[in-house]
Amino acid sequence: MVQSIITLSQDKIPQQWYNIQADLKKLPDPPLHPATKKPIGPDDLAPIFPMELIKQEVTMERFVAIPEDILDIYRLWRPTPLVRAYRLEEALATPARIYFKNESVSPPGSHKPNTAVAQAYFNKKEGFNRIATETGAGQWGSALSFACNLFDIECIVYMVKVSYQQKPYRRSLIEVWNGKIYASPSEQTETGRKILAEDPDSPGSLGMAISEALEETISHPGTKYALGSVLNHVLMHQTVIGLEAKEQMKSVGEYPDVIIGCIGGGSNFAGLAFPFAKDKINGKDIDIIAIEPAASPSITKGLYSYDFGDLSGLTPLLKMYTLGHGFIPPKIHAGGLRYHGMAPLVSAMAKQKLINVNAIQQLETFESGLLFARTQGIVPAPETTHAIAEVIRQAKKCKETGTEKTILFNFSGHGHFDLSAYDDYLAGRLSNYQYPKELIDAAMAQLPKID
Ligand SMILES: Cc1ncc(COP(=O)(O)O)c(C=O)c1O
Repeated sequence: MVQSIITLSQDKIPQQWYNIQADLKKLPDPPLHPATKKPIGPDDLAPIFPMELIKQEVTMERFVAIPEDILDIYRLWRPTPLVRAYRLEEALATPARIYFKNESVSPPGSHKPNTAVAQAYFNKKEGFNRIATETGAGQWGSALSFACNLFDIECIVYMVKVSYQQKPYRRSLIEVWNGKIYASPSEQTETGRKILAEDPDSPGSLGMAISEALEETISHPGTKYALGSVLNHVLMHQTVIGLEAKEQMKSVGEYPDVIIGCIGGGSNFAGLAFPFAKDKINGKDIDIIAIEPAASPSITKGLYSYDFGDLSGLTPLLKMYTLGHGFIPPKIHAGGLRYHGMAPLVSAMAKQKLINVNAIQQLETFESGLLFARTQGIVPAPETTHAIAEVIRQAKKCKETGTEKTILFNFSGHGHFDLSAYDDYLAGRLSNYQYPKELIDAAMAQLPKID
């Protein structure tokens, strides 16, 4: 009998988050103030984030204690199961052993509440009762409204318009948890009104929605902002995934040769990979692979440069791989991957060759997602299908070469609210997007100049 589900008892939930900044030989260059272009300090971030999260952004402590109130909420769904995908292995006739960490079992259906709960908690602790945010596919917006509701915090979500239209039930979920939601670009903000005046049919982008959420924050005293990915503290909160996975793999005598995750801003990938990357930094031989969409290939086609995190240039300048903050990615269904930039920590690790990065086209990802759903049962989110496509490539390579590798990937979310995307795929209405070179070249020309 193959043991397919590897559980971890609830008293084994990690008590600390892991901070890879303590182990990286070279840290990313610091964020810069958008006006002065000098490194920012805590006071610059205080208008938008609570102080505890600002401290976590820059801490060099290797482990940061998780407060009991957060653990108490994590226990609603954590530890998440580690699953051996033996039916997928059989379908591929591969000698590889494939494991996935199933983050789709959280109430909103993805890894996102691991940080949403932490961010809501630290805001509440410092007396902030109103939080604004953006969301791509709606997973982050629903995770934050779920978390804010538990702490009695008002939650305002700007959801990228194309996703708002593609995934109407994510909106319902946000409202079930008492969140307020606007399709972005919206009439609510100066930024949104300006975009709509120029292009009434704008599909929106994460960069635009971040600008709207930041404007909402700055123009409403007492409101703070929350980001669902990219920043160091967000990636750190996600490391409960990899810390649990390590224990679970150990309990069945396994250690991964290959680790795979999809990347939009980098958080689910980092959450699984960073605790293992620590071992790689210390000499262990692991292939850690991040997968991005071919339509928005920040690392494989972008520049490693300072850029804004949003369209309007309201965020600090981050040193990262970017396609240019003005780039509006094509309307792929993986809304959570439609982002021009990448987490500075993930970018630095790609630059330092600690991780490898591939870009995959939409049709291959949906084909892979369907094979997964038809063998393992769970329907993956379109973002997650990117990781699965690479797992399948790797498993096929193992078959060709007769190598028995252990592959571990992050099943970042389910696709129960993304079924219209599967409808489109099954009806042959989806296509690949050619790399939008001209649009990216135009956006790159607007990268801020740093002396
Ligand atoms: C299910 C799922 N996976 C992956 C992502 C990509 O984000 P990140 O790279 O921060 O994990 C998202 C973002 O919305 C998501 O909803």
